Amino acid sequence: MEKFTLAPDGVNPAAVPARTLCTGARIPAIGLGTFGSDRFTPAQVAAAVKGAVSVGYRHIDCASVYGNEPQIGAALGEVLDGGSITRQDLWITSKVWNDMHGKGDVLLSCARSLRDLRLDYLDLYLVHWPFPNFHAPGCDVTSRSPDARPYIHDEFMKTWRQMERLVEMRLVRHIGTSNMTIPKMKLLLRDARIQPACNEMELHPHFQQPEFFHFCTDHGIQPIGFCPIGSPTRPDRDKTETDSVDIDDPVVKRIAVRLGVHPAVVCVKWAVQRGQIPIPFSVHRNEYLGNLQSTVSPPLTDEDMQALAKIDKGCRLIKGQVFLWKDNQSWEDLWDGDGEITPP
Ligand SMILES: NC(=O)c1ccc[n+]([C@@H]2O[C@H](COP(=O)([O-])OP(=O)(O)OC[C@H]3O[C@@H](n4cnc5c(N)ncnc54)[C@H](OP(=O)(O)O)[C@@H]3O)[C@@H](O)[C@H]2O)c1
Repeated sequence: MEKFTLAPDGVNPAAVPARTLCTGARIPAIGLGTFGSDRFTPAQVAAAVKGAVSVGYRHIDCASVYGNEPQIGAALGEVLDGGSITRQDLWITSKVWNDMHGKGDVLLSCARSLRDLRLDYLDLYLVHWPFPNFHAPGCDVTSRSPDARPYIHDEFMKTWRQMERLVEMRLVRHIGTSNMTIPKMKLLLRDARIQPACNEMELHPHFQQPEFFHFCTDHGIQPIGFCPIGSPTRPDRDKTETDSVDIDDPVVKRIAVRLGVHPAVVCVKWAVQRGQIPIPFSVHRNEYLGNLQSTVSPPLTDEDMQALAKIDKGCRLIKGQVFLWKDNQSWEDLWDGDGEITPP
């Protein structure tokens, strides 16, 4: 086992921007994604976590469904054993998967993630999707689960009560949501005893979700942006013909050429400067280091930010087709586009 050391060419974590949450806690304004999909093994992702911490990342976005928390836990164990980094220096997020919303299952799922990650608390625990159904990892977007269920607010609140219990038990410091919509969030804010501190949502230049983004920030909920680069190398089964490619956008490319960076770095830089917390994924050192360095280099100009604001195409990439609960539905039904929760 290679001993964990800090990299001399890394970024000083104290210089990386942080955001203040509704509790007053500070969260690093960039994290490392860990969804290796079927492209990268758990060992490769765990090595990237260790490498990322060594170059200055302090925020790691995990989830039980990514199937790599035991390996990431081993990597975190090496990091903490190294002696230069303490648990308090790190921000670790995990998520409860959709087949673990039942009574008591959220607590069980959290306990498993804590065991696998070798931690005694999580900084943030998210409900991964507001739909309580299971589909096999790696399944095709056309696959449907016979157990699929619509969003039922009373059921979601039973899940949320278990999330609140985890805070009371001090097993998690903050709780939050993911893949929500404004109408669902309004109901949660009405009924929650502990409000979501963060909402993880798809955010990249071609999918900026301005209304939901501002709804969150207006209500003291910090947006965390997934697929910040537009997930350019996701598996073909997760692509549709109408999907656009952020890193091929002429505005993104023009800024990248001027700055001498990859267009991916422009996406990350825009995200941090706009105010969401991007969680770009990469197992390649030059890429994850470049993404982190972008948070401490001179900011994009106002003209750049205005030009990037104009390239929003409303292009949702993670459509969630597998969560549809009856025949002849469109994936748009999952996202409450007309401002009302789609009826069961
Ligand atoms: N809450 C949710 O439901 C949800 C959904 C999706 C994702 N997430 C989280 O969000 C994270 C990020 O999303 P994602 O992995 O789908 O997509 P992403 O971060 O938008 O894109 C990742 C890909 O971009 C490329 N890349 C990254 N940095 C680069 C750089 N500096 N230069 C050039 N290319 C670069 C890499 O491609 P190569 O590998 O080919 O180099 C990498 O695989 C996930 O890992 C996961 O933690 C959460």
